[in-house]
Amino acid sequence: NSPFKSAVVLADSYSSEASELAEIEWDNLGFGVIPTDYMYMMKCTQDGSFSGGELQRFGNIELSPSAGVLNYGQGLFEGLKAYRKEDDTILLFRPEENALRMKQGAERMCMPSPTVEQFVEAVKETVLANKRWVPPPGKGSLYIRPLLMGSGAVLGLAPAPEYTFLIYVSPVGNYFKEGVAPINLIVEDKLHRATPGGTGGVKTIGNYAAVLKAQSAAKANGYSDVLYLDCVHKKYLEEVSSCNIFVVKGNVISTPAIKGTILPGITRKSIIDVARSQGFQVEERLVEVEELLDADEVFCTGTAVVVSPVGSITYKGKRVSYGLDGFGAVSQQLYSQLTRLQMGLTEDKMNWTVEL
Ligand code: COI
Repeated sequence: NSPFKSAVVLADSYSSEASELAEIEWDNLGFGVIPTDYMYMMKCTQDGSFSGGELQRFGNIELSPSAGVLNYGQGLFEGLKAYRKEDDTILLFRPEENALRMKQGAERMCMPSPTVEQFVEAVKETVLANKRWVPPPGKGSLYIRPLLMGSGAVLGLAPAPEYTFLIYVSPVGNYFKEGVAPINLIVEDKLHRATPGGTGGVKTIGNYAAVLKAQSAAKANGYSDVLYLDCVHKKYLEEVSSCNIFVVKGNVISTPAIKGTILPGITRKSIIDVARSQGFQVEERLVEVEELLDADEVFCTGTAVVVSPVGSITYKGKRVSYGLDGFGAVSQQLYSQLTRLQMGLTEDKMNWTVEL
């Protein structure tokens, strides 16, 4: 009596629909919502375990106005991608890492979470049911957005009595409007993304709402995004609104250590391993903002942004430019290694990809 039986039946009954390519303009995909065919829903009530997950037609969901997520922000999200290979098989990248990160976040946010197996199985079902939305090779990827939210009604502040796990997907291309051209960042030293003991280290929805003010101001002033500093000393790099940051100097690549205020990115972790395997020395440590001044290269990593070269950083009114009009040598090497692996263009010696 598999909880996924109904989902499998539904996916099977639409397999012919799922096998063709959707009729959209595949060139120049950006990073926006393109509605697809199905989403996945699974609920958890008082007993604390999720069951009865199923695919449903993609569409709006019903929520009580008193839902915990709407009133008190009890919610988490994840992001991962699926790529289509030339032979039409689909590759997922490290989905169990997202499942584990959701579990850790759920613990911090007082929520039950799906098991790793339930999470990965649900991702697979959702991608297969929406297979026609996975872009052709070289045109982009299918972005997978799992959500976990307190959907039960509360009024007094308390964990919600019911939780919903939902996955929807959207075909995407480049995250930044710059495409793969270098992005221009501004360092923010007044507004902070995270505080010690807070929730900066988990992927809770509120972390992302909290950066919108600084991000909007930066965009209005022509910057691509904001680089945040630690809120105690106001001198150590933390992360960019939607991605982690790396600083290159010679053969040494440094990135802020994970210490509760920085999101433990799966792309971050993968790039560290790829860089070490290529002979770079990678240091996870406190990285001072001043180090940006004499860096050879700076780049960002994230599921959505992949690896994005940084062209300039502005701090206290001064602009440091890295003199790039594309990737720097190091970011290019790491980007190629990672994406060739994610797209199935090179042997996966790390055993990171999952084929569907
Ligand atoms: C991702 O990279 O998948 C994220 O979750 C960041 C989001 C702001 C797009």
